[in-house]
Amino acid sequence: MKSRWKVLIADDEPNNLRLMGQILKNHYQLSFATGGVMALEVARKINPDIILLDIMMPDMDGYEVCTHLKADPETAGTPVIFVSAMGEGEDELRGFDAGCVDYITKPVSAPIVMSRIKTHLTLFDTHRKLEEMVEQRTGQLSRAVQKLEKYSLETIHRLTRAAEYKDEDTFLHILRMSHYSVAVAKQMGLDEKETNSILHAAPMHDLGKIGVPDSILLKPGKLTAEEWEIMKQHTLIGGEILSGSEAEYVKLGETIALTHHEKWDGSGYPKGLTGHDIPLAGRIVAIADVFDALTSKRPYKDPFSIEKSFAIISEGSGNHFDPDVVDAFFAVKDEILSIKEKANSQAESDFRHYSKAGPGTNL
Ligand SMILES: [Fe+2]
Ligand SMILES: [Fe+2]
Repeated sequence: MKSRWKVLIADDEPNNLRLMGQILKNHYQLSFATGGVMALEVARKINPDIILLDIMMPDMDGYEVCTHLKADPETAGTPVIFVSAMGEGEDELRGFDAGCVDYITKPVSAPIVMSRIKTHLTLFDTHRKLEEMVEQRTGQLSRAVQKLEKYSLETIHRLTRAAEYKDEDTFLHILRMSHYSVAVAKQMGLDEKETNSILHAAPMHDLGKIGVPDSILLKPGKLTAEEWEIMKQHTLIGGEILSGSEAEYVKLGETIALTHHEKWDGSGYPKGLTGHDIPLAGRIVAIADVFDALTSKRPYKDPFSIEKSFAIISEGSGNHFDPDVVDAFFAVKDEILSIKEKANSQAESDFRHYSKAGPGTNL
């Protein structure tokens, strides 16, 4: 408890002020107000720890003063005790309605005044300490949750990088395609939480390639039919690795791993899903993934020009790709190109940044 609590006493009758002053002066730091308006002014100025408030005052009665005090965030928490000759039950109720914590009737008795004030200051103090503690603990908790989320994202991103490490240009592929996916998702009206999930889940789309032999994964020429069947397994392997998680990002990563090679007309793999049976995230990532593959160098091909790549995406509308997603993609094509530019020109610094924070930043 504080050594010197501030007590404000408001009463229009000088004798009452004097009497209260006598009772309390050796124990508290006192301020006085001779009316309701003055009581409000002094309360706002000195921020007392407790207020003793007369009810019948000519300029503004105690109920109104108390209502004003409770409406002002600066003084709302300050306990108010009404001190009044009116001892009727109805008046007391009105006082509590106005927000007072207690009621003392005149003529006052010194021991009662002292003990009521002490009780309410102790309560007030405990309440304030509890509030401070809750605020502090809430802050600690939310920082811990943020850290935990950051670390779990980092783990996911490092896992993704480990899986794709042998694949040339993979880091930039992931960086670009995850941001392309976000740009398209935003254009399609997904909210920030959903686009954020896509940002962190899209990099996991090819996680299953960890289970594909290097001889197939890194083969410079065309794959045989048999090799191609093995290559297609990367969707199922990725789904398997990511299955059963409770984490939103991982669950979405599983969905994307399983569906990013499905095609709108049902000719994709692994399940041959059609149209809206393919989850939206899978339909979005499909375009981002293909566009980036088209515009990038791969073991089996040189990069296609932007124009040719756009034309291929456009031709894929309604067969390979969801037409709505294609429309959204072209609506943000400037942004797509600027992501591509930035990713390529800032590759080095992004790489360093990505190593720390994942792909969700810096572009
Ligand atoms: Fe894939
Ligand atoms: Fe990919």
